[in-house]
Amino acid sequence: MTSQRIVSGIQPTGQLHLGNYLGALRNWVRMQQALAPGDQAFYFIADLHAITVFQDPATLRQATREMAAALIASGIDPARATLFSHSQVPEHAELAWVLGCVARVGWLNRMTQFKEKSGKDREGASVGLYTYPVLQAADVLLYKATHVPVGEDQKQHLELARDIAIKFNTDYGVEIFPLPEPTIPPTAPRVRSLRDGTQKMSKSDPSEQSRINLTDTPDQILAKLRKARTDPEPLPASEAGLAGRPEAENLVRIFAALTGRSANDICAEFAGRGFADFKPALAEVVIAALAPVSARLRDLLAHPDEIDRLLAEGAARARETAARTLAEVHRAVGFLCP
Ligand code: TRP
Repeated sequence: MTSQRIVSGIQPTGQLHLGNYLGALRNWVRMQQALAPGDQAFYFIADLHAITVFQDPATLRQATREMAAALIASGIDPARATLFSHSQVPEHAELAWVLGCVARVGWLNRMTQFKEKSGKDREGASVGLYTYPVLQAADVLLYKATHVPVGEDQKQHLELARDIAIKFNTDYGVEIFPLPEPTIPPTAPRVRSLRDGTQKMSKSDPSEQSRINLTDTPDQILAKLRKARTDPEPLPASEAGLAGRPEAENLVRIFAALTGRSANDICAEFAGRGFADFKPALAEVVIAALAPVSARLRDLLAHPDEIDRLLAEGAARARETAARTLAEVHRAVGFLCP
């Protein structure tokens, strides 16, 4: 089998929570752990994508460091996976220009995320928000990605990257870009707000009680889970009994995801018992899972220079591969090459 090159990006959002941890973060760590000899993983913080909508500069810088720290604290090993921020590898933006000349306006016009994010004021959206998927294509093609772990919402962007790769290879009669496969993580539960089981757990929820932050202390975690909204019924005997009970379902799914057990199994264990019993048990599980992550996270955040150093090292490594691909591209399209 040929070697895998795993590439993925994540936007820098400050204030990481349990939802982020059980989503992209843990999945990236799993994929890193599954690397075979000769495989490579490139993980980056997509700060170039972040500025497609205005970001306060100091906040962006801090959020980038926080995301890097959270990734390392969750288990990304900068010695095994190449971890960097987008903007420190200028080849991303350079390749995006060339690919922007390959992609068609009609293709971009079909991107649903742009339609959602630009909303009613499409004329007022940034050009960067519109060409965002071209940069994303450059992100993966620059490393000749074979596998790209993304959420469901990014599948369309990945398909566009494949279309761009095919058209580039065909137009220039080369085989520079392999076609990247999206890999959608199978078990990522959608973690919900602790105040309202119909809403996502989110950093933008004004209520601190709605989420468990990766920096929360065990006492805070316990207090938040004790106050988490539930219904008055006891736990059901099986997963099917969670239907129509979004808060109960959320808590059971968090328990299941963190212990690697099935929701059915958890229901069977707690069947007929009330949440007054279940919540402390859940808190124990959450605290045990997050304690090492938050300790490492707090330690890293106290040493921003160390984070910056690790990211700079990652960027230097990424540039070796990136520069090679970009040189091939320049040759293929007819630019003067040294
Ligand atoms: N657009 C992705 C998101 O918002 C982040 C991203 C940027 C990405 N570049 C990427 C994901 C390349 C996968 C590959 O989630």
